Amino acid sequence: MSSQTSVLAKMFLLFFALFGMFANLAAAVPVEELEKRDVYDPPVLYPHAGTIWYKGQRHNVTWDTTNHPVNITNKFGRIMLRKGLIPTPLILEENFDILLGRIEVTVPWVTPGDDYSLVLYGDSGNFSPMFTINE
Ligand SMILES: *[C@@H]1O[C@H](CO)[C@@H](O)[C@H](O)[C@H]1NC(C)=O
Ligand SMILES: *[C@@H]1O[C@H](CO)[C@@H](O)[C@H](O)[C@H]1NC(C)=O
Repeated sequence: MSSQTSVLAKMFLLFFALFGMFANLAAAVPVEELEKRDVYDPPVLYPHAGTIWYKGQRHNVTWDTTNHPVNITNKFGRIMLRKGLIPTPLILEENFDILLGRIEVTVPWVTPGDDYSLVLYGDSGNFSPMFTINE
């Protein structure tokens, strides 16, 4: 094999390796949808689109608890922050009763942005619409 063919071969390998990586990333996206089946993931009512929070403020996050199943696998809730499509490690509150429908949280000190959302976890995660956090 001439050195030129070998370089070409390497480029092809690299291309397919990258292609495979992106194919995996793309395949990973629908998992969110799958996880939602047959589990309790109450819809977040507040914050909603257009909500503006300021760091350090206290707010009641609210969610709809109507139509909850009789037996909930995990009745403890957890609220996490997400920026864009990226989850952050910030837990705003946890170990509360998922059937409360409301929990007070403190707005964390984060980079201002209009693409924050909350993820309410019970059995699975449910996302709020994107809202704004300002300084
Ligand atoms: C959250 O809701 C409770 C109960 O209605 C209320 O007492 C509390 O003041 C609320 N907190 C905020 C920050 O609005
Ligand atoms: C809920 O759990 C109880 C106790 O395990 C059981 O007796 C009941 O049938 C369950 N109800 C439903 C709707 O699954």
